[in-house]
Amino acid sequence: MNFRRFWGSRLIKSFCSAKTLNNSTQLQPDSEKFNSLSKNKKKLVLKNSLHHSITLSKFSSFYSTQYGQDRWQNLFKSLQNPTRYCALINKFTSPKHIQSFLSTTPNLEQVSFLDLPCYVSSERFKQPEKDENGILNYYLLDAASIMVVKALDLNVNDVILDLCAAPGGKSLVILQYLLSSIIHNNNDFSMNYGGFLTSNDPSPNRCRRLKQVITDYIPPSLQHHIKILSLDLSLSLPTYDKILVDAPCSAERHLLNSPNEFSKWKPSRSKIMSQKQYKMLLDAVKGIHVDGLLVYVTCSINKFENEEVVKKILKNSWVPLEEVKSEWIIGETCEKGWIILPDKCDGWGPLYFAILKRVGEGEFRKKEKRSFRRFNVDKNIENDDYEE
Ligand SMILES: C[S@@+](CC[C@H](N)C(=O)[O-])C[C@H]1O[C@@H](n2cnc3c(N)ncnc32)[C@H](O)[C@@H]1O
Repeated sequence: MNFRRFWGSRLIKSFCSAKTLNNSTQLQPDSEKFNSLSKNKKKLVLKNSLHHSITLSKFSSFYSTQYGQDRWQNLFKSLQNPTRYCALINKFTSPKHIQSFLSTTPNLEQVSFLDLPCYVSSERFKQPEKDENGILNYYLLDAASIMVVKALDLNVNDVILDLCAAPGGKSLVILQYLLSSIIHNNNDFSMNYGGFLTSNDPSPNRCRRLKQVITDYIPPSLQHHIKILSLDLSLSLPTYDKILVDAPCSAERHLLNSPNEFSKWKPSRSKIMSQKQYKMLLDAVKGIHVDGLLVYVTCSINKFENEEVVKKILKNSWVPLEEVKSEWIIGETCEKGWIILPDKCDGWGPLYFAILKRVGEGEFRKKEKRSFRRFNVDKNIENDDYEE
């Protein structure tokens, strides 16, 4: 049987268009390597490629509806670049070690829009190094992650929950702000500040990484400011001044850089995700004190996982909430919240966030029951292993 006739010219065409769209280095149907494959392997390559091309076309049409053709073209291109990182200097490392990092790393440039010491370099960063007390000197993360922690408007005595904390980047940023007065008081770690962070992640594997990050970056003398939990937390009482919900999401930039995960993308998956996010928020808002803040974060570009979830929670939560609107130095405003997208923010992002303030006690029981009945479809959703 003629192999090409078997799959038809449509298949070959879509194979080629998939190559053009995602700029990947898949095998070309006429390449030497492809031709050297066995018949069955060729079939498999073409079948996977067809699936990839169909998924890509659905993906592009889904997002160009949200962003418009022109913006989507640019955004899509920028999302295919790997995530951009900056080095956040760990304030708890000895000054000597910070100095050595600054003087030995080539082409360092400070990130001007952040108020924590963060640096980019045109060179690859070497591995972070431990100081004489075993504390690592910097942590790599997207600069946008620091902005969302800033949105919590932290005070030294705040009691904070980082609900979805692993692997721990944002918890680490919270601690840089929360415990900064200790640093300003000549590293007198014995000073009695009341700030306290609970970092939680229900995934045992990811929670292990979280514990490791806290051990590697925070001196033992400050560990009494932190508790690590690995629970599917259900909040019922106002306990926290600030809650960060960095929710699991469709993480499109991560998907576009992982062909296997990308092949599983479907619009229905992101719908299920948005239901899970909504349910998490409905629960989390009960844990904030009156006048406290909750910052909702995703690294999704999908408005159904971002502002639509926020609109729904503002409308349906029986805990009275208001959105706190603010302007940030990079990014753009959304109908609700703020988004940092890599095509317009020098490669940073994507990161969406919205600040919600609890403005009263509320009696949530009745309305909440109704909302849970409507959103009980996701009972069986697994906790996917998402990257930061
Ligand atoms: C985007 S990641 C968090 C990244 C983290 N905040 C950081 O900055 O390093 C989302 C996390 O949510 C966790 N997660 C999944 N389902 C959850 C749930 N029901 N409650 C809390 N966290 C959940 C996942 O295990 C995952 O680690």
